Amino acid sequence: MNPLAAVSRILLVAALACPAWLQASAAEGATAPTFTHDVAPILFANCTICHRPGEVAPFPLTSFAEARRKGEMIARVTGERQMPPWKAEPGHGDFLDARRLDDGQIATLKNWVMGGMPEGAAADLPELPKFPDGWRLGKPDLVLTMPEPYELRAEGRDLYRCFVLRTEVPADTYVRAVEFKPGNPKIVHHAILYLDSSGAARRLDEKDPGPGYTHFGGPGFLPSGGLGGWAPGAGARPLPEGAAKPLRKGVDVVMQIHYHTSGKAEHDQSSLALYFTKEKPTRIMMPLTLGSRAIDIAPGDRDFVIKDELVVPADVSLVGLTPHAHLIAKEMKALARLPDGTSIDLIWIKDWDFNWQEQYRYVKPIALPKGTRVSMVYHYDNSADNPRNPHTPPQRVTFGEQTENEMALLFMNVIPDRRIDALALLQTMASRRHIVGAGVEP
Ligand code: HEC
Repeated sequence: MNPLAAVSRILLVAALACPAWLQASAAEGATAPTFTHDVAPILFANCTICHRPGEVAPFPLTSFAEARRKGEMIARVTGERQMPPWKAEPGHGDFLDARRLDDGQIATLKNWVMGGMPEGAAADLPELPKFPDGWRLGKPDLVLTMPEPYELRAEGRDLYRCFVLRTEVPADTYVRAVEFKPGNPKIVHHAILYLDSSGAARRLDEKDPGPGYTHFGGPGFLPSGGLGGWAPGAGARPLPEGAAKPLRKGVDVVMQIHYHTSGKAEHDQSSLALYFTKEKPTRIMMPLTLGSRAIDIAPGDRDFVIKDELVVPADVSLVGLTPHAHLIAKEMKALARLPDGTSIDLIWIKDWDFNWQEQYRYVKPIALPKGTRVSMVYHYDNSADNPRNPHTPPQRVTFGEQTENEMALLFMNVIPDRRIDALALLQTMASRRHIVGAGVEP
């Protein structure tokens, strides 16, 4: 018998004649976690969406045998909160689809491993969740698919490839929801969807051989809008009630895909479903962006700080936000100070990871009255101690869109309470173009 099980047994015996404080431990010992009763429900609800065949994670977690094989690693990465990947700290923004285990779940996984990973009764095993093959939001109005498969080389650095999809919509319309479907989830890490009415993306595509063109960071042109993005585990979410995004006649959708190499040559042909609404939106979702280009980080500097602030020019609802930086960014904070002095934590990312970028959407939009000050503070670590530093030894890092450069952006999605105030928001954005540049809301 392993030591932990032995201890449980002793406690169980002791409980029969022991004071209450011991009985609590005894109760725990008596119900030592098993796979079918305790562990499977946690894994199926929080891990299997990525850890199943054909998905992004490197191995499946769909059965006892699979979980047992990785047991110690599961206990470690959940204990360190490395898995499930979710970068926003709890208590600093209440976000939809937050991927987070609570302390009890983490303890259950650890105790299961320490208890020798028993399987438990077959009857306790919950059903594996069903993952829909079709579009989650039903029949789309328009499906855009990469015209031909893209072949990704077997090895090497991650690649950012943009694919230009012609919408050919006969008239201006409004999009109320977008759903992205990775063609090959093993290599598609995330996608960002831009709009281009200028033809610039088509020209970039023509200059680069093969389907699409390679460009790190932004899409390589000034986008005329955005349609959101996709990252593993993300659900398809319609825009808030009454909100929609305009899709102009003749506009192209530029799908920027971040690819991971898999060790063998792979093909991808991703697609996108658009859901239209005939109704003119009663509410307009608009970008408000904070950021800075004043980035010049000396090699070895372990705490370079970027700050920016803006005053919200009208009463708005903050629907969500997307922080963006590159590899050596470390910590990000955003805060709203309302005119009455109240302060609201919008988000806190303690340990930024370029690989896990999210579009954070609040469970309930946050009301930001006119005059609210929104501020961001980002920290960067350009020392050799930063394991994510791409340079050894560290080198000077400046603003730019290449991997080795850095960026500092906070894209916010807001809906003005009164349509007329859209103008004030546009003016605020126009006056900040020199700061945020081509940073379009993703
Ligand atoms: C959103 C997708 C996603 C979810 C959800 C997810 N994982 Fe992962 N997991 C990955 C990917 C991708 C990797 C490989 C790359 C990495 O480590 O970031 C990984 C790697 C791992 C590893 C190997 C880590 C290492 O150091 O090699 C373990 C163990 C793991 N996941 C366990 C879990 C468990 C347990 C859960 C649920 C509690 C979970 N994962 C949820 C995507 C996910």
